[in-house]
Amino acid sequence: MPPARPDAPDRLLVAGNWKMNGSRALAAALAQAALDAARAAPEVEVALFPPAVLLPLVSDAVGAPRGPVAVGGQQCHPEAKGAHTMGIAAAMLAEAGCRYVLDGHSEVRREYGYDDARVAAAAEAARAAGLRPIVCVGETRAERDAGQARAVLERQVDAVFGSRSAPLADADVAYEPVWAIGTGVTPTPEEAERAHGWIRARLDAAGAPRSRILYGGSVAPANIGGFLSRPGIDGVLVGGASLEAASFTALVVAARAAAAARRRP
Ligand code: PGA
Repeated sequence: MPPARPDAPDRLLVAGNWKMNGSRALAAALAQAALDAARAAPEVEVALFPPAVLLPLVSDAVGAPRGPVAVGGQQCHPEAKGAHTMGIAAAMLAEAGCRYVLDGHSEVRREYGYDDARVAAAAEAARAAGLRPIVCVGETRAERDAGQARAVLERQVDAVFGSRSAPLADADVAYEPVWAIGTGVTPTPEEAERAHGWIRARLDAAGAPRSRILYGGSVAPANIGGFLSRPGIDGVLVGGASLEAASFTALVVAARAAAAARRRP
């Protein structure tokens, strides 16, 4: 196994992005499952990203922001307040118990017009409110086939981390190839780690060596172990498999095993 990174984070992160799914009943059940799984696996950080209206329920259920399960929003608006119908300000998420906020998920980029500049502005707003953004990046299938994956990732990372006078500390990245989201098709762990290496180099250049890089896109109990066996992968961002208590629990159990394997000399 390659040597451990000196700046590797203390804990692997397993993050469940519920997208526009769930109900109060499902949220309560998933929050309880996450709480049980997190208590049994203190070496793993567990985070939930419910739809905004379910945040208070989930935060209360897991004792956020101080409990063993972190909670996050799915996107914050770049502005702090004002006439932005449907917008959710970062401070509102913080007040709802959030520690994290996803920023620039490919579905948000596609459906709500979040381009690189807007994603960068939202990351600034998140930091100003004390939230830790998880900036989502990833190439489309066409970009990959055209040999542009590396350039796309570097552009997306630089837009948020690179053009700043001060480094954007306290922010993470999720590498989510668009073609792997919800498709059941994934890169190999080696391919994912290669992309993480490109991203890591840009984060190092931007002065953000402690940012985590998560892999996301069709992560499931059957494949999580392969991704987390790679030292360049610091956790996972999971959609579909986070919507069932049994599979989310299995992901946390697998992450715990991966964390133990990493600690072995
Ligand atoms: P998926 O979604 O796990 O359902 O592929 C991942 C994501 O979009 O964050």
